[in-house]
Amino acid sequence: MIFHHRYNTTGLSLDVGLMRLTDGFIAEMTPRMNSAFEEMQALESGKIANPDENRMVGHYWLRAPRLSHTPQIRSAIEKSVADIRSFAADVRDGRTCPEKTDRFRRIIVVGIGGSALGPQFVSDALADVRAAPIHFFDNTDPDGFDRVFNVIGSELSATLAVIISKSGGTRETHNGMIELRHRYESAGLSFPRHTVAITCEGSALDRRAIDEHWLRRFPIWDWVGGRVSLTSAVGLLPAAIQGIDIDSFLAGAAACDVCTRVPDLRSNPAALLALSWYSAGGGTGRRAMVVLPYKDRLMLFGRYLQQLVMESLGKSHDRSGREVRQGLTVYGNKGSTDQHAYVQQLRDGPDDFFATFLAVLRDRDGRSIEIEPDVTSGDYLHGFLLGTRRALADAGRRSLTITLDEVSPRTVGALIALFERAVGLYASLVNVNAYHQPGVEAGKRAADRVIELQHRLFAALRADPSARRTGIEWAAAIQASDHADDIHYLLCHLSADPARGVVRDPAAPPSADRFGMK
Ligand code: PA5
Repeated sequence: MIFHHRYNTTGLSLDVGLMRLTDGFIAEMTPRMNSAFEEMQALESGKIANPDENRMVGHYWLRAPRLSHTPQIRSAIEKSVADIRSFAADVRDGRTCPEKTDRFRRIIVVGIGGSALGPQFVSDALADVRAAPIHFFDNTDPDGFDRVFNVIGSELSATLAVIISKSGGTRETHNGMIELRHRYESAGLSFPRHTVAITCEGSALDRRAIDEHWLRRFPIWDWVGGRVSLTSAVGLLPAAIQGIDIDSFLAGAAACDVCTRVPDLRSNPAALLALSWYSAGGGTGRRAMVVLPYKDRLMLFGRYLQQLVMESLGKSHDRSGREVRQGLTVYGNKGSTDQHAYVQQLRDGPDDFFATFLAVLRDRDGRSIEIEPDVTSGDYLHGFLLGTRRALADAGRRSLTITLDEVSPRTVGALIALFERAVGLYASLVNVNAYHQPGVEAGKRAADRVIELQHRLFAALRADPSARRTGIEWAAAIQASDHADDIHYLLCHLSADPARGVVRDPAAPPSADRFGMK
């Protein structure tokens, strides 16, 4: 078995020689991987591969529209990419300009999860320092909003807002949009004249964008999952506006898809990754994946991958309804920086992980100086990677290495496609639905319940302004004794901001604190 392959069309190579894939394991997994290949083929031909949501899974079509399930899907994808190209060119050349100044000079993306992590990674990896700076609202943290507003400052009038939400109803994104709108309006600017939407047709966000005549709307489709949406408008629009070559990006992803479609587990890079994950974790995710790119530009890859892998594979039940508690933990930042942090434990602590090294052959644009005769700083970076890889192997730890010729739109597109496919194949091996996210949906509903409690609490506080009660007593007063703990924390939060009108008389222990209206 050959463990080290180069995939010329992608600019990537993969070496799984330190993952201990034995011939016996390969033989045992061959029939299962063949079934995974068949499932993948069915998925690509338009079968409902996400049965819980009754949806097709079509992200591979985004970079090869001719393979789409229907001609309508093909033309929708092609039109979207053409629209993105022309809109981005218009923005960059000043033909589409803001209300009160000649050109958009900054971008702010409002989105979360799959609607933010990918664009953040791509922008950090590929944007030129001379490109329009990009900012993100990827939370509902008021202080987080202010930090971004402070950086943008008076350039808000030259800032293009891109609101991204597939569902068009995600609360954090909605709140970010409202805060942003408020800023534009407070500065005497029209929000719609600075804003575009990326969302599913007919969503609440889409309707708002139509009603208010936003600058533009770009589609995402129900057959594209949030975390695999980077090759849709979600990833392409911010990238194109920043001047990133989206055609090369798509071509890299498409080239990788060609390699990962080959139904041969000995050469298909995504199959080799999925088998490596399976072998390291015994098919139950027993070992975590530590992502170590030795390149600052790829630092956000670990965060991006954490969502792609953990939201896709972290499932309580398999596709037959059996409780399985599957998952694959992902963490990591960058080398060699992490060698001065947790790599100590990787070498000397529990054998509960496998490392995924990312090496980049091209050090920088232009020539490097020599730090010492015949040695550059890039030689050190590469040397640290090789040294850590060797040290981990000597300590009996597993690792695999992906080498990129350079960090470019083509290799980054390929890298994303590689992991998207590996996740899909691995999900088949462990028999989970990689394309739904019931835990995320549950989290969204849970916050709504808390806000509903807060409304009831405020009503009770205002109805009895002289009362001073503990959280437990207020919970009883609104018939929410099951949530006394939540009520206590809500009161603590409300009373921390004098503008909310709630006061707190401290006691000991804190659960005996009394609260009421000012
Ligand atoms: O991958 C996913 O499906 C999620 O992480 C979503 O991207 C995230 O919850 C944001 O959803 P939306 O794009 O609908 O606002």
